[in-house]
Amino acid sequence: MPSKHEPVADGKAAAFRRQFPIFKDKIYLSSCSQGALGRPVEAALHEFIESWHTYGNPWELWVERMETLRAQFARLINAQPTEIAVTYSVSTALNSLASALDYSVRPKVVTSDFDFPTMGHVWLAQERRGAQVEFARAEGHRLPLTSYEALIDRQTALVATTHVCYKNGFKNNVAALAEVAHASDAHLLIDAFQSMGTEPMDVKALDVDFLCTGTLKYLLGAPGVAFLYIRPELIERLQPSDSGWFGQANVFAYDVHHLEFANAARRFETGSPPVPNIYAASAAIELIADAGLDAIGRHVHGLAALLIRGIRERGLRLLTPEEPAARGPLVMIGSTDAPRLVAALAAEGILCSVRDGSLRISLHYYNTAEDVQAVLGALDRHLDLVAHARD
Ligand SMILES: Cc1ncc(COP(=O)(O)O)c(C=O)c1O
Repeated sequence: MPSKHEPVADGKAAAFRRQFPIFKDKIYLSSCSQGALGRPVEAALHEFIESWHTYGNPWELWVERMETLRAQFARLINAQPTEIAVTYSVSTALNSLASALDYSVRPKVVTSDFDFPTMGHVWLAQERRGAQVEFARAEGHRLPLTSYEALIDRQTALVATTHVCYKNGFKNNVAALAEVAHASDAHLLIDAFQSMGTEPMDVKALDVDFLCTGTLKYLLGAPGVAFLYIRPELIERLQPSDSGWFGQANVFAYDVHHLEFANAARRFETGSPPVPNIYAASAAIELIADAGLDAIGRHVHGLAALLIRGIRERGLRLLTPEEPAARGPLVMIGSTDAPRLVAALAAEGILCSVRDGSLRISLHYYNTAEDVQAVLGALDRHLDLVAHARD
């Protein structure tokens, strides 16, 4: 009998895969870098071009499309559209938020060794404005909750950290982090770029205050769109100095003399939105929502379990935790020469990536058990380039 984490070879996942032409001659295992291009997303980009050709400057239509996207993303994470800002990147979302915080009473921002570099850069750049950045320390390939607990206190304004680590696939326990942060009246921001689109996400149930993510990875959109969720009670208290006309109560008031923030998370928006990317993102999120995050989550976890079993059976060095609760869609394997290994796999039509000298394999709803067996088979052919558990 298949276990709970066995990949589900259902017809829905197979139909989903057929919408991604790259699978005709490649095995794509690099959604952690960029999601594959689906036909509906390609069609949406053409639709944008047609709207431009046909109407010249259909900004009303384009702004409407942004509102549709806002609502789609809100539904995906169990939030309201008024709680979502549409930004250009996770970095711009973080910078807008950082510009709204007052570090005079609570200067401390706690992030971690496992965060994407931009998280460190954004908060370190705030040190000139009084912020004090501290890093929760990793222990090997894990980041224990106690590392955060050791730093979070009543000087802490914000715990800003990743959901899934981009360089080893370790997954933080968000609900537990929220409890620890809130016990000191600190806020919690989760960077869900390496998980969003591969498992259910409910910002209310998890009790997070802020969440940021972008569309280009597992949400299967193009670069140029990201989101910032803000807990509704916090919105009015936060006034970003990183501002602009799209963050105003009435965007089209054209009033240069007054600053009047929108009474919604979109006060964190600045200038003209990235319309082509919005078209792509909207079609991509529709694909994800139609598939359903529950079904995607079961599928991805099953594939990851299959891959991990294959790695263990071969005695290879696994850098990702084995237990399902502590990992996401990314599985990492040690390598003796990761760039060569990735090039060797690419030569066989298997597309993976390198981080920190190791091999990154990421799984999505469009991947199959055959993809997993194919990459394991390829590793068998390049064992000299793979690190072994005993090394
Ligand atoms: C976890 C995580 N956060 C943030 C980023 C950077 O996001 P952006 O380029 O949208 O600022 C990345 C990019 O790979 C990432 O993996």
